[in-house]
Amino acid sequence: MAVACASSTPAAAGGQAVFEVQDLHRHFRLERHRIDVLRGISFRVDRGEWLALVGRSGCGKTTLLHLLGGLDRPSAGDVICLGQSYRHLSEAQRTALRLRHLGHVFQRYLLFPELNAHENVMLPALHWGWNRTRARQQAGELLERFGLGHRLQHRPQELSGGEQQRVALARALMNDPGIILADEPTGNLDVTAGREIMALLEELNRKGGKTIVMVTHDLDLAQRADRTLIVRDGQVVAVPAGTRADLGPPPLPAAAAGDASP
Ligand SMILES: Nc1ncnc2c1ncn2[C@@H]1O[C@H](COP(=O)(O)OP(=O)(O)OP(=O)(O)O)[C@@H](O)[C@H]1O
Ligand SMILES: [Mg+2]
Repeated sequence: MAVACASSTPAAAGGQAVFEVQDLHRHFRLERHRIDVLRGISFRVDRGEWLALVGRSGCGKTTLLHLLGGLDRPSAGDVICLGQSYRHLSEAQRTALRLRHLGHVFQRYLLFPELNAHENVMLPALHWGWNRTRARQQAGELLERFGLGHRLQHRPQELSGGEQQRVALARALMNDPGIILADEPTGNLDVTAGREIMALLEELNRKGGKTIVMVTHDLDLAQRADRTLIVRDGQVVAVPAGTRADLGPPPLPAAAAGDASP
């Protein structure tokens, strides 16, 4: 099968693969309609790389990130994470791999409204069986590091968007993952709050050596990553190094598209 492969230069140079995405397909069914979102995507991400994924709304970026995180199963194809094929792992094994190596920052934060910042960050660790003291201490340290030491008792609705995003990032880092998957980490933020989050991600990557796959709408922010892939028409296209991604023209509204056909 023909596969659009956007392989990276470091991969070609023999870097260690964190992800190998192999001819990935994902479609959804809604009643009698089938939506083909990802249609044969292949690329790899090397250890320590910072990859940006861009593309128009609805092109499948979140879908792809969920598949990278092993949170969803593809219709066809596979993701190899740290040498392990998700296809061949049980649900429990995938969960274990996620807990050990992956931190996921979700597009809509997914914070519990009834819990304060400190509890939101601690909660996953309690599920992994950490004792309360250890979880409380680690969560407190992370929030302190992210400038939220004075906001520990605040619930999400009592925090700004940027603060909520930092809480979500702190939660994703509780297990000290080597890989961070961040879905629009600056998407709902003003310029200043967005810059703060980018600075944190930059530090985690450049100093902490963490591998980052970041979805963003912001083509200027994407340029801060090592390389960028555009998700378009169910495929990925590599953006030449040092250039700004060009997403192409926006899709025509359905009615107009219909009118335009001969
Ligand atoms: N569970 C689902 N069932 C049906 N369709 C879905 C499902 N999840 C996603 N889709 C569809 O798949 C497409 C891609 O969705 P996705 O959330 O991956 O887009 P996105 O690129 O992240 O968009 P945005 O930039 O707006 O966040 C959309 O058309 C969406 O409606
Ligand atoms: Mg999305």
